[in-house]
Amino acid sequence: MNKKYFLICFLSLILLSSCTDDSEYIPAVNNKTVIGKLIFFDKNLSNPIGQSCASCHAPETGFSDPLHRDISEGAVSGAFTSINSPNLAYNVFSPERSYNTTDETFIGGLFLNGRSLNLKEQIIHPFIGGLEMNNGNIANVVSKIRKAAYFSEIEKEYGLAKTDEEQMSFIADALVAFETSKEVNSFTSKFDYFNKQLIKFTDDEKKGLAVFQGKGKCAQCHVLEPDERTGKILFTDFTYDNIGVPRNEKNPFYNQSAAVNPAGSNFMDLGIGAIVSKPEHNGKFRVPTLRNIAVSAPYFHNGSFKTLKDVIHFYNVRDLKPSEFAPPEVLKNVNTDELGDLKMTAEEELQLEAFLRTLTDHYRK
Ligand code: HEC
Ligand code: HEC
Repeated sequence: MNKKYFLICFLSLILLSSCTDDSEYIPAVNNKTVIGKLIFFDKNLSNPIGQSCASCHAPETGFSDPLHRDISEGAVSGAFTSINSPNLAYNVFSPERSYNTTDETFIGGLFLNGRSLNLKEQIIHPFIGGLEMNNGNIANVVSKIRKAAYFSEIEKEYGLAKTDEEQMSFIADALVAFETSKEVNSFTSKFDYFNKQLIKFTDDEKKGLAVFQGKGKCAQCHVLEPDERTGKILFTDFTYDNIGVPRNEKNPFYNQSAAVNPAGSNFMDLGIGAIVSKPEHNGKFRVPTLRNIAVSAPYFHNGSFKTLKDVIHFYNVRDLKPSEFAPPEVLKNVNTDELGDLKMTAEEELQLEAFLRTLTDHYRK
């Protein structure tokens, strides 16, 4: 084979392998992802100005709160929701919410309690919500976007919008493109390189993976099988469970005005049970991805756990040593089959932690 042909074959091989590695759900850079990124980081889109999506979903923390707050503060000072800002990356692949009658569980949807059916619908809520970017309505969001330096780019890509609703749907489309893009979901963790057999795990990491799959039962919910649509390992099956997370006594939501939180300090987060009005699902939250987990403390829907060590210990001995933990926020439906008394040794807890630390993106040897 002459040199020129060799080079062409070699290049097309590389291209081919990167093609097969790609998924139609994970765009590389294109016009829409670029526009979506500009919107995502634009601090002029809140009321008062100063807050962008990235203020609560920053790249360096798996697209969760860059300040590691239990609960992020809204654009209006003193405004707090009841929920810890989740990692956006990888969780955005949650499918449209549905109910699986065989397993008697809800699957998919956005927000930890599944109240948005899909990602595109989700986007309007942080823009408008008084506890987040506080714009009140779509017209106010659109009027800010029309003044943005990049507005001409939106018109070039999507054309002229006839109504505010149509303009908003262009904005949402671009944000979805960015949120599901390779830039946000890069699959560049040590685990990914290990999985492609490009590097080796340390002894502890290897044993930690075995605990994750075996004794720790983690993979029963944070699954290792590739996700159906993306073909990628996302460490969640997007089902819902009540794992008995205690209240976070420091949740600033308890002190919000009665208009925002009528229950005051008695507020109890019923998860998806409240959304679908079915008490048999009370206390259940969507299983989150574990990618980037080492950089996105604090943990669980209310930010009540501060370290991975504490989370792992909780899974291990919740039922064996109940006095070590405050009672579950919602007592009903707590899962006692797959967690609570795992009989892991102290060494296995550490190995499991070492494995979880391999899930952080942008790994460098
Ligand atoms: C003040 C902080 C804050 C800002 C600003 C914010 N978010 Fe969020 N975001 C949250 C919180 C808190 C949740 C979880 C709420 C819940 O589950 O009830 C969330 C949830 C989400 C989710 C769902 C994640 C999942 O796992 O289901 C997506 C997607 C999202 N936000 C996108 C955005 C976008 C896009 C913007 C900008 C338009 C934005 N957020 C602005 C705090 C914020
Ligand atoms: C029965 C299903 C199930 C099993 C088994 C399970 N988890 Fe989870 N995990 C969940 C759910 C549901 C949540 C979200 C709970 C909440 O926020 O209230 C969660 C949350 C987490 C979080 C916090 C994520 C975040 O972004 O805040 C970590 C870390 C975690 N799990 C690790 C593990 C480890 C390690 C194991 C094994 C020892 C494990 N999980 C086993 C269902 C499960």
